[in-house]
Amino acid sequence: MKICSTVKEVREQVNAWKKEGLTIGFVPTMGYLHEGHRSLMEAARKNNDKVVVSIFVNPMQFGPTEDLESYPRDLEKDAKVCEGVGVDLIFHPEPEEMYTEGFCSYVDMNGLTTELCGRTRPTHFRGVQTVVLKLFNIVKPDNAYFGQKDAQQLAVIKRMVTDLNVDITITGCPIVREEDGLAKSSRNTYLNADERKAALILSKSLAIGKELIEKGETDAAKVKKAISDNIETEPLAKIDYVDVVDFATITPVDTIKGETLVAIAVYIGKTRLIDNFIIG
Ligand code: PAJ
Repeated sequence: MKICSTVKEVREQVNAWKKEGLTIGFVPTMGYLHEGHRSLMEAARKNNDKVVVSIFVNPMQFGPTEDLESYPRDLEKDAKVCEGVGVDLIFHPEPEEMYTEGFCSYVDMNGLTTELCGRTRPTHFRGVQTVVLKLFNIVKPDNAYFGQKDAQQLAVIKRMVTDLNVDITITGCPIVREEDGLAKSSRNTYLNADERKAALILSKSLAIGKELIEKGETDAAKVKKAISDNIETEPLAKIDYVDVVDFATITPVDTIKGETLVAIAVYIGKTRLIDNFIIG
């Protein structure tokens, strides 16, 4: 397994593979890899000749008061995880390699990014789209893998490749959870013991909403209320949003029909966690 820190090194390797007619699967990450990331790498491993993983804590997608500095990092451990899955190349650039002097080009979107996480993180998706398109242009994969854990991000990336004619197939992969139901996240490391227990309120509250819908409830407001009411029973939890939106367009719906995303963001103490389910 190669670990490259420059765009030039990645390009040389990728071009050599392309010359041999090999397919490339790509998993972009910010590192501190867990089972969720691993499931994406395994999907890539299964369906491609070569697998590339990027590990880059992208400053552009963090707001000025967010956790860029404290975001957990452990390249050595991450390399072992990648090696275990049979990854062929890790791209681990420094910010200066990605954002060279004079950098001023961005990828942005009018729809899809205003609701859910876009409301409290207004520049987040611009940073995500910009870095992902850059990574796509560096790695030139045939297939790229994203987790449904970040459902809005998945919808945004799908829209971006359609709109900009990016010739890469995007595959969404299911949410991987801890045994007790908490969605795996690099940010779970911020939680102390009490907060870790309290964090279960996310998956438990979503389960209540899902059951309601499965029993036939189509009124989005009622589903949102049931989920919110349950989250509010947890003293350490503070709701950022509880929303029901059309998955493709990320616009709020009143009536649940078609592919619908029920998504929540909740502060547990100072840590902001997200979770969701898609129905239909
Ligand atoms: P990161 O948070 O490291 O996540 C990398 C990928 O792993 C994303 O596609 C995310 O949805 C997926 N993932 C995270 N937790 C998961 C879980 N519990 N189950 C399934 N998949 C999970 O998302 C980013 O990084 C960045 O925004 C990035 C796309 C790399 C751009 O910087």
